[in-house]
Amino acid sequence: MASLEEEIRRRRTFAIISHPDAGKTTLTEKLLLYGGAIHVAGAVKSNKIRKTATSDWMEIERQRGISVATSVMGFEYEGYKINILDTPGHEDFAEDTFRTLTAVDSVIIVVDSAKGVEKQTRRLMEVCRMRSTPVIVFINKLDREGRDAFDLLDELEAELAMQVCPMTWPIGMGERFKGVYNLFKSSLSLFKSDKQHVAEEVVEIDSLEDPALHQYIGEESTHRLREESELVRGCYPKPDLEAYRKGQQAPVFFGSALNNFGVKELLQTFIEIAPSPKDTMAQERVVSPYEPTFSGFVFKIHANMDPNHRSSIAFVKICSGCFRRNEYYRHLRLDKKFRFAAPTAFMAQKKEIVEEAFAGDIVGLPDTGNFKIGDTLTEGEELHFKGLPSFSPELFQYIDNADPMKQKQLAKGIEQLMGEGVAQLFINTFNNRRIIGTVGQLQFEVIKFRLLHEYGAECRWTPISLYKACWIETDDSTALEHFKLRKVQQMARDIEGRDVFLAESPYLLRMAEEEFPSIRFHFTNEF
Ligand code: G4P
Repeated sequence: MASLEEEIRRRRTFAIISHPDAGKTTLTEKLLLYGGAIHVAGAVKSNKIRKTATSDWMEIERQRGISVATSVMGFEYEGYKINILDTPGHEDFAEDTFRTLTAVDSVIIVVDSAKGVEKQTRRLMEVCRMRSTPVIVFINKLDREGRDAFDLLDELEAELAMQVCPMTWPIGMGERFKGVYNLFKSSLSLFKSDKQHVAEEVVEIDSLEDPALHQYIGEESTHRLREESELVRGCYPKPDLEAYRKGQQAPVFFGSALNNFGVKELLQTFIEIAPSPKDTMAQERVVSPYEPTFSGFVFKIHANMDPNHRSSIAFVKICSGCFRRNEYYRHLRLDKKFRFAAPTAFMAQKKEIVEEAFAGDIVGLPDTGNFKIGDTLTEGEELHFKGLPSFSPELFQYIDNADPMKQKQLAKGIEQLMGEGVAQLFINTFNNRRIIGTVGQLQFEVIKFRLLHEYGAECRWTPISLYKACWIETDDSTALEHFKLRKVQQMARDIEGRDVFLAESPYLLRMAEEEFPSIRFHFTNEF
């Protein structure tokens, strides 16, 4: 039996992030293929929300249902336990993705070689930067015409605001794509289009001066590769494990996920360098994964779409020790003990009941409304994990009761949906009306539907034109009182009772900042 420490040390928990269509699902599938977790391509149900379905949110929710199975995919590879956390591609669910990033120790970013860094990747990268998450980049779709590799690296460096370090170098692209050269192992992987199997021909060469090189890739490509790799060596730093682990340097790989090309190289490097579970910050202290006692937090709640059973799955990231089935754990917010008879772990696409799980793993706990995002479970210790920030919503609407007989149901429904992290609730302190803030339009429809079908409550929306919700902070209580009086109509409270200023426009926010220099305005509730 492996010791607790060995179990934890061999875990690698990460997320793959990308702009929709860059190839996240394809890459995930290929990684599972290498891990032997699946045997043929096409087995992973896409968690991607198809563009054609954006107007039909019921379809989107149905597809989201699929994502329970693919939310976490665990597999064993060369003695490592790898946990891939999936993130929804649809931008209206960006908040889900942000929260998922709080449960991982590193990320792989997939970039489409024709498109470079796209909007959603950019936003997710900001979160990674805030958390100094180590990042590996996979530039995908080299089998198609894409942008120049140097251009892409320049863009990545600027967008990610960190050093990039190419580990492999592409030889041509599109029709002329011959393969990739491993800059540090002096090996050449020759491209063979194969969508189903793990197949790539690797040839070892002594160096780029090896006369055999042109036999493999031809005269012209040899010449070009020699020239480019010279340039690469001059322009880019050497791989630096420490810088990578601190989130300051991103190793970059080139390949084609669809053709299973460059994926093995990526996976091999990943297991060599990606961090094992790291310390987690709690308000009280720093928690090491290797502590013998269990602790963890809920980072995601997946509601069951079956309206007859208001059951859901709370996803718990284990921060320390070992979680055991049927053991009593303390739910800090409710100060109650719970035990779980059917915790599930996720191996490939199967959900199965587990007896134990270790720091770094995710367990799914069936729940009937006891959990909210951010809740902590421990063996008894008072701990509150940090790092699950709420970000200012983008869209705001007043929510009003449309059925006077169902006041209570509405209140309960709103409370639970907010606990699941579907949207954020603010109470305007001037008129006491409830405001719901979301990232996308879709959530308003989802909330209305779920309130009706799961809680029997009817709601009515009234749009409000707001720019951002700003959490405010100051040491100057007089200025704060003054500010609140001046902005009385724009003041609200969040679900925890904290003061929030509802800025109507960037201009008015700037004016407020100028007028009240001692007050700091934040777009997130953790600062
Ligand atoms: P996502 O999860 O990031 O949204 O992307 P996904 O893997 O679903 O890939 C998006 C599209 O890009 C898919 O095509 C997929 O087959 C294609 N793709 C992924 N990797 C590569 C690659 O290396 N080369 C090429 N040429 N294409 C790639 P689709 O037509 O949208 O979907 P499908 O019908 O093939 O599933």
